[in-house]
Amino acid sequence: MKTKVGVLSAGGDCPGINSTIHWLVYSALDKDLVPRRGSMFEITGILDGWKGLIKVKPGKKESLKEWTMPLDTTVVRTWDRYGGTRLGTSRINPFDPKNDQSEVMVENYKKLGLDALVVIGGFNNLGVAYKLYRMGIKVVGIPKTIDRDLSGTDYTLGFDSAVNIITEDIDRLRITAGSHSRIFVVECMGRNAGWLALEAGEASGVPIILIPEHDFALDRVIELLELRKRSGKRYSIVLASEGAKPRGLEEVHERRGRDGFGHYYLGGIGGFVAEEIQKKTRMEVRYVALRHLQRGGSPTAYDRRMGRKFGIAAIDTIVNEDFGRMVSLKEGVVGSVSLKKALERLNLVDVEKYYDTKNYKSLDQIL
Ligand code: F6P
Repeated sequence: MKTKVGVLSAGGDCPGINSTIHWLVYSALDKDLVPRRGSMFEITGILDGWKGLIKVKPGKKESLKEWTMPLDTTVVRTWDRYGGTRLGTSRINPFDPKNDQSEVMVENYKKLGLDALVVIGGFNNLGVAYKLYRMGIKVVGIPKTIDRDLSGTDYTLGFDSAVNIITEDIDRLRITAGSHSRIFVVECMGRNAGWLALEAGEASGVPIILIPEHDFALDRVIELLELRKRSGKRYSIVLASEGAKPRGLEEVHERRGRDGFGHYYLGGIGGFVAEEIQKKTRMEVRYVALRHLQRGGSPTAYDRRMGRKFGIAAIDTIVNEDFGRMVSLKEGVVGSVSLKKALERLNLVDVEKYYDTKNYKSLDQIL
């Protein structure tokens, strides 16, 4: 009897998801790569995240075709080099008290004949996975989110690719900012965590970085910009994480509304900061929100490698029947951590250790 493994991606897409699916499938099915496991597994992709597990009617051929996809090495052969998720994803909360779909998911898991379910997700969706584990589903999690805000792991898929995109875009903006002697405010993602801003800011040498973990004073931002101007700098770039807050004011939400898990859609702080600088100084300011550009494109070499390691580790975890766990990277070693532990808290920037609260930049401690 083969072990039938379902795999789905839930929440925001990012580069690295397809790579991890590629290696998960290869590690489970490729006879040359893992001879002893050659025929142990059957892998089924579930499409559009939780939506697929809810909507599928396992007895109906057409529905199976619509919501699931048999995965083998031929199907996933080239997936490792593509961003996004070929399985599709959705941002729904299947435990929404107003429309709880958990029983349907458990039933469909059983009717699909699954022996294990691999969930590629971030904090909220691994939270869903954990609840399903407590309802009897044999779950293994793979961490992915460009925000890198999960505890229990030093890496989440997608982060490195996003850092690279932000860095490259800042390189481009420098050219036009310098030509016009302008200030550019660049807004990046990250939700409650400032890691993307801090690390992309470090990589691109941005002088002013605003992160959600430390409320900033607008007057100080302006003072720092003026100091730079007086010292002869032609232009400046301020990198604002979407969750950064001006001291004494509310978080800025441009797009009103919340996602299925009750979080506000963020975005808009960059525009706000740009406008305030423009109003209060004589400097010419422009604003760019990188938005979903920073989640697109191909995975970097690091994301492909980590996708590989996490995909292989997920299959190992299933072989060891170590369910209710998330594969992880800790101090350079790939292993796993209990989902319960991984979900105890968000991994936010330790301001004291990594952030200069006077000059709004990184403290340049090695992470
Ligand atoms: O969690 C990943 C993330 O990219 C956040 O940084 C961002 O706030 C959010 O997703 C955007 O969500 P959506 O793709 O639903 O607009």
